[in-house]
Amino acid sequence: MYQGQRWTRLFFLVPAMALVVVAPAVPQIGLLKARIASKPRLEPIAEISVLMKGINLPNLRGLDRELRQRPTSADAWSNIRGQALLIAENGNLLMLRPPRKLDEETWLARARDLRTVAAQLSESAAARDHEHSVAGLKELANACNRCHQFAKVDVQITSFADEQPGLRYAPPSPLAVPEPPEPPKPPAPPRPPSPSRPDRQG
Ligand code: HEC
Repeated sequence: MYQGQRWTRLFFLVPAMALVVVAPAVPQIGLLKARIASKPRLEPIAEISVLMKGINLPNLRGLDRELRQRPTSADAWSNIRGQALLIAENGNLLMLRPPRKLDEETWLARARDLRTVAAQLSESAAARDHEHSVAGLKELANACNRCHQFAKVDVQITSFADEQPGLRYAPPSPLAVPEPPEPPKPPAPPRPPSPSRPDRQG
């Protein structure tokens, strides 16, 4: 029954081969699922106030300083363009973190306005157009203030293009940022017996 033996052999061989092919694929399906689950996603990390103090304010101040006179060097214009772009990019970061207590659609619109106005300013800087850059900076300060008004944040941004030179920056009201509680005072150390008073019992 030579032929029969061959068939039996084949009968065992085929599933065995299938296992060899499929078995390594099984953990790979799991791996694929894990990879989809762990696909990097945008998630907000820093508080809004950090983005304001770390990106918006210093770059707006830089723009304010550099656009006071007509910039003369390519470096200065390149700086101005970069500062405007960082503020524009911050618009994207703000879109990632609408505060829960505010209307989301309005928040997104205000953040988009910041991005648009700052990107326009970067284009005026790329074209080394001082007049349009100055107008753009004023627009930018307005975009900051429009969101602060909407979010009821007590921060007023003024650019030199307004009558009052410099930035008016009133720190947020103490209500917005509560003071940390005072640490408890350590108990007073016990007083050593005074040497000037002799022991009454003695
Ligand atoms: C989309 C809304 C939005 C825009 C646009 C915006 N801000 Fe703000 N800003 C906020 C909010 C909300 C706070 C309050 C953050 C907090 O204290 O939690 C804030 C706070 C601030 C603060 C105070 C931060 C602190 O904690 O002391 C400064 C400074 C500031 N913003 C500057 C700017 C400047 C400059 C611009 C424009 C270039 C700007 N912001 C644009 C929403 C915005």
